[in-house]
Amino acid sequence: MRIGFVQYTPCFGEVDHNIETVLDLIGSVRADLLVLPELCMTGYLITSRDEIADLAEKIPGGKTTEALCRTARERSCHIVAGLAERSGDNLYNSAVLVGPDGYIGHYRKLHLFFEEKLWFTPGDGDLPVFDLGTARVGIMICFDWIFPEATRSLALKGAQVICHPANLVLPFCQDAMKTRCLENRVFAVTANRTGVEKRGGKVLSYTGMSQITGPEGAIIHRCGGEDERALVVEIDPARADNKAINEYNDIFRDRRPEYYAMLLKKKLNKNV
Ligand code: ACM
Repeated sequence: MRIGFVQYTPCFGEVDHNIETVLDLIGSVRADLLVLPELCMTGYLITSRDEIADLAEKIPGGKTTEALCRTARERSCHIVAGLAERSGDNLYNSAVLVGPDGYIGHYRKLHLFFEEKLWFTPGDGDLPVFDLGTARVGIMICFDWIFPEATRSLALKGAQVICHPANLVLPFCQDAMKTRCLENRVFAVTANRTGVEKRGGKVLSYTGMSQITGPEGAIIHRCGGEDERALVVEIDPARADNKAINEYNDIFRDRRPEYYAMLLKKKLNKNV
């Protein structure tokens, strides 16, 4: 199976231009599954709720999802892309999955980062896993990486490949994904953006270095910090089904969930 990412610099608010750039980059590779960055058609450094409300789209049905569906059909591939979603009065930081037969599903980011909390409603649905035939893929978005429960939930639901659209501004995630993949024995595609956004007196620099990580925690490919490109590697998703470390230890069978009840508590007490 050929999986990969598109790394580039979106222009804030220029959705048509960004769609064109992404489709050009997608056209440069042959892939079964491609992951695009978080908020990949709108840009990330939002300065007001009205601004992102104007740019957000319905999923499915919005023009970006429709454009991605057409490309997925033409190129016989699956695409996961981070998009701003409008649903009723709510805005979500979402990721859509489309394939040769059109829209398949989407995920709304559970763990909002920094000022995202001013603009978006946190997701209230499960972390999803989809069986594409070629592989079982899970979706999480950027800052979800810092909650080990997110990757773990996807892995326990059977994901072999984690699709991870991102707009990373801190330097920790790429190295942390080695541990996320190792402790769950899954592949991950972290698709990050590049460039600097300066808006409303604020500046954000994105770290690039999109990464494909393997189930033993090895980096299969890490992109440069500023490259704008699509990159694809060949993997065997079935490698993620082997959870054995040695003949005695299987990281899923050896779990002791009866001692993890704490994880299910809704509210932490004041000492924790
Ligand atoms: C992030 O979640 N965009 C850091």
